[in-house]
Amino acid sequence: MSLRAKAKTVRILALESSCDESAAAVLDSEQGLLAHELFSQVELHRIYGGVVPELASRDHVRKLLPLVKSALKQAGTDPKSLDGVAYTAGPGLIGALLTGAALARSLAYAWNIPAIAVHHLEGHLLAPLLEDDPPPFPHVALLVSGGHTMLIEVQAIGHYELLGETRDDAAGEAFDKTAKLLGLPYPGGPELARMADAATGGAFIFPRPMLDRPGLEFSFSGLKTAVLHAVRAHEMTTALKSDVAHAVQEAIVETLVVKAMRALEQTGLEALVVSGGVSANRTLRARLAAAVGQRGGRVYYPRIEFCTDNAAMIAVAGLARLSAGQHDTLAIRARAQWPLNSLPPP
Ligand code: KG4
Ligand code: ZN
Repeated sequence: MSLRAKAKTVRILALESSCDESAAAVLDSEQGLLAHELFSQVELHRIYGGVVPELASRDHVRKLLPLVKSALKQAGTDPKSLDGVAYTAGPGLIGALLTGAALARSLAYAWNIPAIAVHHLEGHLLAPLLEDDPPPFPHVALLVSGGHTMLIEVQAIGHYELLGETRDDAAGEAFDKTAKLLGLPYPGGPELARMADAATGGAFIFPRPMLDRPGLEFSFSGLKTAVLHAVRAHEMTTALKSDVAHAVQEAIVETLVVKAMRALEQTGLEALVVSGGVSANRTLRARLAAAVGQRGGRVYYPRIEFCTDNAAMIAVAGLARLSAGQHDTLAIRARAQWPLNSLPPP
């Protein structure tokens, strides 16, 4: 879908606060993305080795409103020209979600415009629509984030068929947990990827779970145990750590590539969308591009800054739903769990 497909111009403000990023964006159906502002809480949580939900919520309270103000300023927009306020209503950390939901709902009430509750994963799925060369529909989407690993057949916006998902840890979680075992600072995924790219040897090979079986399910929890054994069995020099990181990345990337190719095969589709935080991984991007290209297909990604959490992607999903006439009641909505396939089509 082009963001320009609608007859009336629609402009929305969007908020994201599902985890440890506070973000605000302004999107216009004709003029595209007018502003996007983001504050990452990485420094706040680093000493704890992971996200502390209560600290995350409190920081969203501090940061969201200033981000909204600066996004509106950057967009040269005053609230009167807005048609709605979209916000991430789930899935995510409930306290963090509630801060964004309460602010978005209040602003919408004060400005007398609709509020639109957006599903965070729909935001990730639709993020590539912000690019100049958006993916065609239908396509297969590989959604790889800190909390989810899914293969989805996307027939159209709002028409999502789950083809397969992880039985345990998500791909991002596997990156983060193995990085922690190597003593790397939070957030581990990008750190581990950096270390993997510096590897010189191939001292380790870790299992590729579920590759020997048919189907599109994933399982990454065994990787932690394999890494734990490797770390315990060796004196971990920097070079060996790099080798472990390399082997972890290879195991995750190969598993994702093989299953994504299987999903294209099974659906007969040629376009693959890859989104969510792990889609920022350069090795994954290169391998998928090569494998899908060999088949005559194409891979579509959001730009790197929109792979991880941001409000621009929430604006895309919010704008699609508002343009289709969907919006919330006056209730403040937030859901820690929210199955993607329970969304109504727009
Ligand atoms: O989508 P996201 O920002 O938040 C969730 O909705 O979960 O994804 C965050 C996840 C984290 O697990 C992080 O380690 C991982 O994405 N990640 C990466 C890279 N950049 C972020 N994993 C591997 N390589 C990267 N370059
Ligand atoms: Zn996310």
